[in-house]
Amino acid sequence: MDSNKRPDTMQRITTPELANAFIDEQISALRKQIGDKKVLLALSGGVDSSVVAALLIKAIGQNLVCVHVNHGLLRKGEPEQVVEVFRNQMNANLVYVDAVDRFLDKLAGVAEPEKKRKIIGAEFIRVFEEEARKLDGIEFLAQGTIYPDILESDDGVKAHHNVGGLPEDLQFELVEPVKLLYKDEVRVVGKALGLPDNMVYRQPFPGPGLGVRCLGAITRDRLEAVRESDAILREEFAKNGLEGKVWQYFTAVPDFKGVGITDGKRTFAYPVIIRAVNTKDAMTATVENVPFDLLQHITNRITTEVENVNRVLFDLTPKPSATIEWE
Ligand code: XMP
Repeated sequence: MDSNKRPDTMQRITTPELANAFIDEQISALRKQIGDKKVLLALSGGVDSSVVAALLIKAIGQNLVCVHVNHGLLRKGEPEQVVEVFRNQMNANLVYVDAVDRFLDKLAGVAEPEKKRKIIGAEFIRVFEEEARKLDGIEFLAQGTIYPDILESDDGVKAHHNVGGLPEDLQFELVEPVKLLYKDEVRVVGKALGLPDNMVYRQPFPGPGLGVRCLGAITRDRLEAVRESDAILREEFAKNGLEGKVWQYFTAVPDFKGVGITDGKRTFAYPVIIRAVNTKDAMTATVENVPFDLLQHITNRITTEVENVNRVLFDLTPKPSATIEWE
């Protein structure tokens, strides 16, 4: 039987009971596959890798080594949450790598979006490879491949999430416990595993992270402006019932300044662009009709709380003609 094909008889996991049955089944399958060997996992804190981590912690405990690479392009609070949930609460064997300077140095002066993506992807593999080489006796590599990744790719390899590109001498046997699940099922399983709601029901977040929302060549001041304004937007959407309703929402900061005035003084600072869209498959998207008074409130918060920002813009453009991300 093709192990990459979901059996027609497999029931859709929609309830905690079905999730628990899947978890029990996977725990014994993982123990059988892995035995007392060690497994390595790149843990981003996204839904898929988090669910794989939680499953493997249950199955093999300390024999799972999670590597969390903080490349400086994550949202506010994300690296801290990975450490809190996995190291402190689940007692995971977690290696936290602070690679912020390394990534930002490599990206300095690079303005072209695809070049930025390539640098981020390649550097990620390099950091992960270095960590893998420091560890002894690893025989398996776990991945958060899910069923759409298999359906959408010719060779069944997840293009942007996996650690494909590791050198020949670092090839591990793969462990992919959620590869036959759809995203909604992964969330039900994550919930049953006790992961926090803001991890399980997280909106999509691109692999290159805030790197493609700090437009043009990344600078630390604008990157902080993206991170802080994004945190305010998320907080206000959650408070006002838009979290979970709007498919994807975020801010972007362009690489030009405008004139403004604060406390009677002239300022020359960056604008923040708000984007909030709905879609089924990310191929086309419509713009959320965000209440105007909420937009005004968010504008007030961003212009008073975020440094180096004096304006807020709302992106009214559907996809097409725009893409969802700015880069
Ligand atoms: P676009 O901007 O192409 O985005 O309309 C469609 C969806 O894909 C996400 N996206 C990415 N995800 N790596 C990713 O993992 C990327 O390089 C990337 N670029 C865009 C985007 O956030 C949206 O959900």
